[in-house]
Amino acid sequence: MNPVEVILAKRRGEEHAHDDLEAFVLGFVGGEIPDYQVAAWLMAVCWRGMSERETADLTRIMAASGDQLDLAALPHTLDKHSTGGVGDKTTIVLAPLVASLGGTIAKMSGRGLGHTGGTIDKLESIPGFRATLSESEFLRQARDIGVAVTGQSGELAPADGLLYALRDATATVASVPLIASSVMSKKLASGARSLVLDVKVGHGAFMKSEEEARALAGAMVAIGRHAGRNVRAVLSNMDEPLGNAVGHAVEVIEALATLRGDGPPDVRALVLVLATEVLQASGLDLDEGDVAAALADGRAAERFERWIAAQGGDVSALDALEVAPNTSVWRATSSGELLALDAERVGLAVARLGGGRRRKGDAIDLAVGAHVHVKVGDHVSAGDALVTLLHRGGSAVEDALLALEGAARIGSSEVRRPLVLDVVR
Ligand code: URA
Repeated sequence: MNPVEVILAKRRGEEHAHDDLEAFVLGFVGGEIPDYQVAAWLMAVCWRGMSERETADLTRIMAASGDQLDLAALPHTLDKHSTGGVGDKTTIVLAPLVASLGGTIAKMSGRGLGHTGGTIDKLESIPGFRATLSESEFLRQARDIGVAVTGQSGELAPADGLLYALRDATATVASVPLIASSVMSKKLASGARSLVLDVKVGHGAFMKSEEEARALAGAMVAIGRHAGRNVRAVLSNMDEPLGNAVGHAVEVIEALATLRGDGPPDVRALVLVLATEVLQASGLDLDEGDVAAALADGRAAERFERWIAAQGGDVSALDALEVAPNTSVWRATSSGELLALDAERVGLAVARLGGGRRRKGDAIDLAVGAHVHVKVGDHVSAGDALVTLLHRGGSAVEDALLALEGAARIGSSEVRRPLVLDVVR
């Protein structure tokens, strides 16, 4: 394999043979192919794309570049991935819910960066919660209670980590085959047989249009098919934050309410769809009514407490998580129907209060957050409270309020996107 020929072939729009692609990617990981050649190839992929077969090959090559978890001894292994939303606490509800219904969810989860929060950070707002499990602890816990969530391991799909860093620095992130293979390489390496993807569409999402989201969903489902995994994708609306709480402790509180059969209607509705899809994909004969029953009768909440306790969390503190003591209210300046609430800006406001990282490894404040009082479709009057910021005072509050400026679109009724736009199976 000659790297220049690989770049040239992609520049002409040709399809790579599996072995050429493998030698190219592994040559990069091994340090034999320099960054500049890989960057040129990435740019050619952005313009020329990749076939379904090539994308599936690239994914498997990246998945096989590091450790791969073997979950074969566990029943109905399943996983969930979101392309990144604001106020998205669905994993915290879905994980114990599916475990209470016979699924096994042994999940690697990420930390937040920029305006989106990470599940691991949210869980760490529970005193004592341990987000780093050894592989044996992780597998034992998954076997014993059906749910284990740990921080991402550095050895999972290392080729993706290296390629992503290069994409980030060369404006080559935005490519459907590159995004799809990046996400799916980590999912294939983490071993679950079934997967549901929550592909967010809207202002606060990576994919701003339904068309882009549909293309990404289709590419990821196709990769799953090539790899022999059961993958389904739900396209969901991110024209406003999910639920009412945005932050860390405040989102755990909202997730807990949902697990106890209460919680905001949109959080509950999305969890029910995602959980039903992934349980069915894993071979369990359950419908949405069965899943709703586990929320209503306490099975999911009970499994949540066992899970948190198993990872060292103080269950007795769940109803008294620390929330920042000061509040500032952001109000509507006009009257009408709420058409959209820019989720990215709400996430940014929380980040500016200290709840988000600029760079990997930054410390964050898990007690700050926002409470959103209005949902798209609500009528608001000038002066109404739209968002309450929960903070610790200081100049960050002004910066956070500035981030919210212009975030609400208020007007007269137009066609609204539903919460769940489609399911790709
Ligand atoms: N998330 C990923 O894991 N990879 C991408 O390429 C984009 C988002």
